[in-house]
Parts: sequence; structure tokens; C-alpha cells
Amino acid sequence: MDEKKRIVSGIQPTGTITLGNYIGAVNNWRKMQSDFDSIFFIADLHALTLRREPAEFRQTALSFFAQYLAMGLDPEKAIIYFQSQVHQHTELQWILNCNTYVGEASRMTQFKDKSAKHADNINMGLMDYPVLMAADILMFQSDLVPVGVDQKQHLELTRDIAIRFNNRYGETFKVPEAYIPTVGAKICSLQDPTAKMSKSDPDPNAYVAVIDDEATIIRKFKRAVTDSGNEIVVREDKPGVSNLINIYAAICDKAPSEVEKEFAGQGYGTFKIAVGEAVAAAFEPIRREYARYIADKEYLASVAKEGAQKAAYLAEKTLRKVKKRVGLISF
Ligand code: TYM
Repeated sequence: MDEKKRIVSGIQPTGTITLGNYIGAVNNWRKMQSDFDSIFFIADLHALTLRREPAEFRQTALSFFAQYLAMGLDPEKAIIYFQSQVHQHTELQWILNCNTYVGEASRMTQFKDKSAKHADNINMGLMDYPVLMAADILMFQSDLVPVGVDQKQHLELTRDIAIRFNNRYGETFKVPEAYIPTVGAKICSLQDPTAKMSKSDPDPNAYVAVIDDEATIIRKFKRAVTDSGNEIVVREDKPGVSNLINIYAAICDKAPSEVEKEFAGQGYGTFKIAVGEAVAAAFEPIRREYARYIADKEYLASVAKEGAQKAAYLAEKTLRKVKKRVGLISF
């Protein structure tokens, strides 16, 4: 039997995959995929909570899938697929819905933020979103969920739902843990370093996309907002420089304190260019590989289909057990 621990994670296909997603999530998935039984999906059902233009949405989802492969997620090592192609996600979600309180779901910070931002479209899905996420995770009996810090609260809710279900119906779900990187769990906007870097930011200078070209990446870092003074240190009153230090540290696999030493006495201008160059060098192969993958739709489809089959097989094992536990009939 396979004794590797299992990891599961996903990204919503909206906008473009950013440096924040890369450092907070995908780069860790890539590193972990050899040592863990790994499942990575495109969270396209989650993305429907906001209105999407269908043709553009379809293209974005496919592009994200190609970017997963370009970033080094390997279908030989991991199950990679689209959430919407595995019906067990939503089937389990329903049963979990009946074991989740409206009060819990409506307390989620992301629900409150998104409701405030999209007051004309506070749909059921927006509130139910973390329950779908719980289903994504629990149906695979996952051990660890590698995510950025913004998903921590959703992971806590997932654990609460799992524990409650287990107490009510008997041991059914493994209770998963969040796996949050020590450096880069929250990469901030290059234009407003007090806010999270977001893939749907209307200002493209606020984020770096993993498929941006070198000149664009360097330009965005040159324009990055820094702080007053000239010290290159991680400090609360220096959110801009701290963010750049964390980015450089995560990309070059160094501790932030080493980065402070490396650039001690140098100006912000020099440092910004150095960070831009490091990121551009790390993303250059991704951009190249992306061009190759996105041109080969047949290959993408074959990986996605095979991934969905494997995911459905694993998920069905849990779902069958869950249905039995809650007393649904099976013949
Ligand atoms: P999403 O699509 O917002 O983000 C994908 C992943 O990237 C991380 N992340 C960041 N990390 C560091 N700095 C940032 N600025 C930054 N922005 C995003 C996120 O923490 C996340 O790990 N609900 C999830 C998708 C999801 C999921 C799941 C994840 C659906 N089902 C099951 C894990 C397990 C989301 O919207 O992530």
C-alpha cells in the first residue's frame, strides 16, 4: 500500500497566476510532489461565485492548467485535473452543507470581504464556497493542504466540519492540516504593500504574472512602492521593502536575514532591480514551457482526463462511505 502522506490543493482560475500564488502555493506543491501523494486541481467551480464571461473563463481555466504544467507540476507524479470534471466535489459538498452552520459560513473573512466588494451579487455560492473547499479536501482523506495564509480560516472550518462529522457519524474523514510556508505565506501588492498581491487586481503593476516577460517583470519591480528611508530590512514600518525581501528570499531559497545582509548598505533602486532579475530568471523557463503546453490542447486534454478519472476513483471511495454513514440507501 502507498504510505506517502497526501496533499491536495487548488487555485481559482481568474486573472492570471501570480508571484503570490507561486511562492505561497505552487512552488511548494512542486517541491512536495515527489514525496507526497499529490492532487492538484483547477478550482473552476469556486470561480463561478463571481460572474464570468463564459468564453473568456474557459480560456483562463485552460491557460491555468497549462501554467500548472509549465511551473513543473508533473502528471507522472501528481493527479492534475479540473474540479468541474469530478462530480464528487459537489456531491460531497451537499452532505457537508447539511453539517455546517450558516453562522460558521457567514463568519468567514473572505465571504465578508467579497460580499462588501460585490454587493450586487451576494449569491449562495459565495457563502457556500468554504464548504466546497472542505469537500475538495476531505474527499481525498488529505493529510496536508499547502496554501498561503489567506486560506487558513477556510482550513480551520474544514477541520471543524470533519471533526463534527466524525463525532456524529463515526470516524470517516482524516482531519487535515494547513501547510503554510514560513517565508512568503502572504506576498503583498507591489503597488500597495499593505494589501495581498491578488491575481484579479485591476492594476497589472500590482502583481507579477508567472508568464510575464523579463522586461515587464523588471519594470514592475522598478515601479514597486517602497518606504521612506533607505535601509533594506524586514520591519513593520517598512512593508514595501519587507515584501521585496520576502520575495527575493523565497525565490532564491534564502532566509530573509541573509538577504538583509547581502544588500546591506545598498540603495532601494539597486535592490529592486536585483529582485526583478531574480524573479525574471526563475520565471523564464515557465514562460517558455507555457508557450509549448498551451499550443498542445490535445495533450492538455489527455492529462486532464486521466487526472479526473484518478481523482474520481479516490473521491468515490470516501463518498460511498459518507453516504452509508448518513443513512442513504445503496443497493
Ligand atoms: P486562490 O486561487 O485565491 O489562491 C491560490 C493559492 O495561492 C495562495 N495565494 C497567496 N500566497 C501568498 N501570497 C499571496 N499574495 C497569495 N495569493 C494567493 C492562496 O493561499 C492559495 O493557496 N479557495 C482557494 C482555492 C481552493 C483550494 C481548495 C485550496 C479551492 N479548494 C482546496 C486548497 C484546497 C483560493 O481561492 O485560492
